[in-house]
Amino acid sequence: MKMTTSVLLAGTMIIFAVIFVIVVLIPTYQAEVKPSEMVRMRTEIEEEGRHIYIANGCTYCHSQYIRPQDWDLGAERIAKEGDYVLDEPVLLGSIRTGPDLSQAGGEHPDDWHRAHFTNPRYTRPESIMPPFKFLGDEKVKSLTAYVQSLGGKDADARVSRQKHWHKILTEAYDKGPDSNVAILHRYIPEMWINMPNPYPATEAALKRGERIYQSFCLGCHGPVGDGQGPAAKYLYPPPLNFTVLNRTGVSGGIFYYQIMNGITGTAMPYFKRELESEKIWDVSNYVMINFVGKNDANTEPRGIDAAYEPVDTSTKQGGK
Ligand code: HEC
Ligand code: HEC
Repeated sequence: MKMTTSVLLAGTMIIFAVIFVIVVLIPTYQAEVKPSEMVRMRTEIEEEGRHIYIANGCTYCHSQYIRPQDWDLGAERIAKEGDYVLDEPVLLGSIRTGPDLSQAGGEHPDDWHRAHFTNPRYTRPESIMPPFKFLGDEKVKSLTAYVQSLGGKDADARVSRQKHWHKILTEAYDKGPDSNVAILHRYIPEMWINMPNPYPATEAALKRGERIYQSFCLGCHGPVGDGQGPAAKYLYPPPLNFTVLNRTGVSGGIFYYQIMNGITGTAMPYFKRELESEKIWDVSNYVMINFVGKNDANTEPRGIDAAYEPVDTSTKQGGK
């Protein structure tokens, strides 16, 4: 056969049509995707929030799927096709300028979202997410409801855990600083309570700690650690005023435990996925010395051996 233009064109079209049938049409009509175990119907307000999410281009920065190779996200769950049966359009997204949100529900309580949507720099001083205050309270509420629904039934379980602890912690906060600190420390394992900060509070460590404090903590706990950062007016219970810890038996281990795990039911987020161990000890030293007004760094029992740092043996406080 002679390869004329029309033969080439017809051949191309035939090949294209065959591929289209195999890759698109057959799977569309054959694949019977069943809802996965976490799927549930969205409520009206969550559905409204989803429209606001689409209208404001959240998908340009946030994905909603976790692949097997994404374990480094700290994912509890790999996405399944059945997770998306109720979504039209599906909001997978392809860019992760911000974190994946497919399991965002219940990661933070509602008050954290209120502060974060008003201005992300309030809760995360170096965030590049734009503020959404212009949406107004009603829309921010719907958007929050939608984000809290991400993860379906799994998210519902996390949200109800947040609510459970929120009630207990709010009641304790309302009774005054002593009962507040008592409840904050009540559930921390003995081992952590008795553990001093194993790293000496050297000048370098305190400088690193200051840098971490400014990048992660300042928006809530405030520049002088009194809990009066710009996020404070949106949060209840408000960020802790570190000075109240001066007359309590607070330890480096307690700080480590709280910073690593966060405090469920309050806006205090966990940092286990963002701050390496040493950074948590450094920021603890910084906060203890500058805001709490006492520190147990590098005293006995040392627990973790911080041998790589020069240890000043002439004083119990190490390099402080
Ligand atoms: C320019 C990119 C960008 C856009 C647009 C954007 N975000 Fe973000 N988002 C981020 C970044 C970066 C972070 C991480 C820092 C932070 O917490 O602000 C983030 C964090 C978040 C978090 C917290 C996740 C967590 O696990 O802590 C939520 C929830 C969120 N965004 C929701 C939204 C919603 C809803 C919209 C649309 C109204 C949106 N974002 C638009 C970049 C963006
Ligand atoms: C989004 C706001 C927010 C951010 C960001 C935040 N915190 Fe908190 N923090 C809180 C709240 C709220 C509490 C608990 C308030 C309560 O229930 O009294 C808290 C409590 C704590 C406690 C508990 C103290 C104790 O004795 O149990 C420590 C320690 C702490 N924060 C350290 C930090 C450090 C360090 C950072 C930065 C790495 C940080 N926080 C970032 C809001 C925040």
